[in-house]
Amino acid sequence: MGQNTKNMHYGKITGWGKYVPEKVMSNEDFAAFIDTSDEWIVQRTGIRRRHVAAETDQCSTMATEAGKRALSLAGLAPTDLDLIIVATSSPDYLTPPVSSQVQAQLGAHNVGAFTMSVACPGFVYALITAHQFIAAGSMRNILVIGVELITRMLDWEDRNTAVLFGDGAGAVVLQASDEVCGVRSFVMGSDGEGYQHIIHPSGGTACPPTTETLANREGYIKMNGREVFKFASRKMPEAVAAAVHKAGMTLDDLDLLIPHQANARIIEAAAHMAKLPSEKVFMNVHEYGNTSAASIPIAFCEAIEAGRIHRGDKLCMVAFGAGLTWASAVVQMGSDVAGLPERS
Ligand code: ACO
Repeated sequence: MGQNTKNMHYGKITGWGKYVPEKVMSNEDFAAFIDTSDEWIVQRTGIRRRHVAAETDQCSTMATEAGKRALSLAGLAPTDLDLIIVATSSPDYLTPPVSSQVQAQLGAHNVGAFTMSVACPGFVYALITAHQFIAAGSMRNILVIGVELITRMLDWEDRNTAVLFGDGAGAVVLQASDEVCGVRSFVMGSDGEGYQHIIHPSGGTACPPTTETLANREGYIKMNGREVFKFASRKMPEAVAAAVHKAGMTLDDLDLLIPHQANARIIEAAAHMAKLPSEKVFMNVHEYGNTSAASIPIAFCEAIEAGRIHRGDKLCMVAFGAGLTWASAVVQMGSDVAGLPERS
């Protein structure tokens, strides 16, 4: 901070990193203790496996590991940062904010940090927020992390939710640049009328935990999957079209769609409505399930690892989730980012 940011109003993504726990649970593993099957889960969701945190993993440690990898690629020291934003719905504690634990674990001495809770679209909200600080000229280097340790919030006896989620973290570094790149346009939305469709009933102030709430299994996430499915299938293509339009682009201009990885059928429906061919849509839900706020940054990292993101590419990130909430952003990669190939 305090450095000259004149004409440096674009937040270039210069580093990225992910952390996923080693332990994997297959659909067959679930079929051993709840009434479900590999066939049902694959057909209805596309999920085959999910990564599940070890006892030694915490939300903060997973976020820190992804953040370290992103900083290393960007060639920045933790103390070079102006800000750390952590998007999550599964922090180590309700208080303190997990972003402060991450700041300390990174060794980012006295760097500002805050946590955003916007469910699955949290990372996109955080990316857009980071972009605002850079566009305003007030900051140069920002670390944005999406992380979830959601499997500790699941009712392992509830087949409606247990099979859907996984744990992990992903991070990006945004650096001020004078090149036109980074977040080119965005959409943020919320419809709180639907707040009950995905809810963790007990644990907040509306319903503090008691012996009774524990016995009623209210300390776990509940979901009305059908309603969320309908909402997501409608909202994802709308949000993509709106962000692309705001960027002054057409859908043909997009090189890759990086949708929230909740359900392959939702992604396919959104891609179909947006008339995007499958080679322009990234999908890894089969490997991770729904990692909520971590899903888009993990997918972004894997798309790079798979050689599907190039210098100068125009991406659209889009997510939906509890709230109900949604967000999309058109993101342009820089033309000189180390670690990205040229588009041939
Ligand atoms: N195995 C076998 N059967 C199951 C399972 C399971 N794991 N889960 C549900 N079923 C049953 C249901 O009980 C139901 O049985 P019934 O007809 O006897 O009542 C039947 O399968 C059909 O249920 P539907 O809800 O109609 O199944 P659907 O095809 O809609 O798939 C699913 C359910 C996968 C949950 C889907 O609705 C979905 O993906 N919804 C969106 C969820 C989502 O994306 N959430 C993201 C946001 S989460 C966040 O923000 C933290």
